Amino acid sequence: MSPLAALFPDGDYRFHLTLRRGEPADFFRPRDRSGRVCTERARWLVENPERYAALRPEDEPLLQEVAEMAERDWQVRRATTVRGLGETLEPDFLLLSPDETGAFRLRGGALCFPTGWALEEKIGHTLDFIHGVVPGLNSALASPIQQFLGKLKPGVAFLRDNWGITANGELNQHPARALPPPTLPVALDRLWLRVEHQALVALPRTGGVLFGIRIALHRLDEVAKEPAAREGLRRALTSMPAEVAAYKRLDAVRDAVVALL
Ligand code: HEM
Repeated sequence: MSPLAALFPDGDYRFHLTLRRGEPADFFRPRDRSGRVCTERARWLVENPERYAALRPEDEPLLQEVAEMAERDWQVRRATTVRGLGETLEPDFLLLSPDETGAFRLRGGALCFPTGWALEEKIGHTLDFIHGVVPGLNSALASPIQQFLGKLKPGVAFLRDNWGITANGELNQHPARALPPPTLPVALDRLWLRVEHQALVALPRTGGVLFGIRIALHRLDEVAKEPAAREGLRRALTSMPAEVAAYKRLDAVRDAVVALL
């Protein structure tokens, strides 16, 4: 199955905790020969460092553990600050660790290409709180996610993907930019399938978790050329619950997009 078609598992739309095993280095190692990704990352981090990077002083050991891993295993130069590592690594990265009850909380990271959320609003909060805005996610997956993170095996990257549809090919969808959602009339060559490739890696020394995100953008007219991906997307959009379509800012256009697929 092609990677695009694999985004849309058989059956109606649902949230799932399907994870594949991979090598952390394969995910985090630089692969953008043009250098454009890191140039854009640096631009956002210079323009507004507080918006795109954060870490509380007491959580520095999480950063140190990742910076050492990055230098040793991913062939990137040593960084000493969260902003520095944010300019060096191509993926966005978030650092989590358990609180005294064992619940995983977001401690910091560098997030230059957010999919509609603001790091500063989520820092210090639990995953349940962070996922609270996604309709139906916690009731379906909160406890499997917590369990999974609690027994994450070191040395492996656990990979998963989220997808959405945007009306522009911008990597940075920070809410402060107020980029408009897709609107009618729609055309496949003016919409993008936005894929978040995600990796979860255990940090054995600190007991934390590294969460990496790489964004890929595919214009929908290109996606539609692949029959299995086209059919998978059509089925996912058709069967998605109304409140999930609204959360994904697709409620105004989904029928029109389905009609074009
Ligand atoms: C380990 C398994 C995880 C699963 C199965 C999962 C699943 C999901 C899903 C299905 C969504 C909705 C996205 C969409 O449909 O558009 C979502 C959103 C989100 N997830 Fe996760 N997630 C996981 C881990 C994490 C971790 C470790 C973080 C770390 C911060 C995180 C942060 C978020 C955020 C910030 C959003 C967007 C919320 C918003 O719109 O404000 N997730 N997640």
